[in-house]
Amino acid sequence: MPPVVAIDGPSGSGKSSVSRAAAQRLDVAYLDTGAMYRAVTWSALEAGVDLSDPQAVVDHVDSVGLSVGVDPEAPTIAVDDVDVTEAVRESRISAVVSAVASVPAVRERLIEMQRSIIEQARDTGLGIVAEGRDITTVVAPDADARILLVASQEARLRRRAEQLHGAQGAQRIEEIRDEVVRRDSDDAQVTAFLEPAPGVTLLDTSELDFEESVAAVLAIVAS
Ligand code: CDP
Repeated sequence: MPPVVAIDGPSGSGKSSVSRAAAQRLDVAYLDTGAMYRAVTWSALEAGVDLSDPQAVVDHVDSVGLSVGVDPEAPTIAVDDVDVTEAVRESRISAVVSAVASVPAVRERLIEMQRSIIEQARDTGLGIVAEGRDITTVVAPDADARILLVASQEARLRRRAEQLHGAQGAQRIEEIRDEVVRRDSDDAQVTAFLEPAPGVTLLDTSELDFEESVAAVLAIVAS
């Protein structure tokens, strides 16, 4: 039976790229829950919602139709049929997404959707790798494998810089330090990463390259 795998981790831990590659190798679906928080944030900004007003944010989230594509070859996210897969990665979204993600009623709505996507993948025998910040603990504590990916702050900054700036990444670490450090601290209000929850396997990728990280995840899933 294809597995349900839950992976959590902070920004730059390799979570998204490693999870997606693991889903491809396992031939299961892939769910990027961060993209869902980013998509409702994109939509709220588009609609001019005041992000400091939690009720306004929740009302807006209730009014949007989110469509999540879980093909690991080409994951997509759409808001009311507008494909925002690329747009949600913009730094203007990264800068404010934690504010939206920290509203409990927003989390409730998105967690319900995430659970139903995971359940469907389980029930249809498709299997899934779902990644985010509360998947091992809240969204899918009953997953077949649960992994917390961590990496040193320097390793995470380097990867984030490379992700944003390609080969020039190494020279631009300082530019993104503030964003990553601030988002770590904003997210810490909602999701903590220092310790894996009981039953969750800790995987430190600081010294691993991409392929080694994917192999380590697959080894945990197989164990
Ligand atoms: O860019 P990065 O990979 O760090 O983040 P992401 O996975 O795209 O998630 C973006 C934001 O969504 C995070 O900074 C959290 O504020 C929020 N998030 C969350 O609260 N819970 C999740 N399960 C996933 C993301």
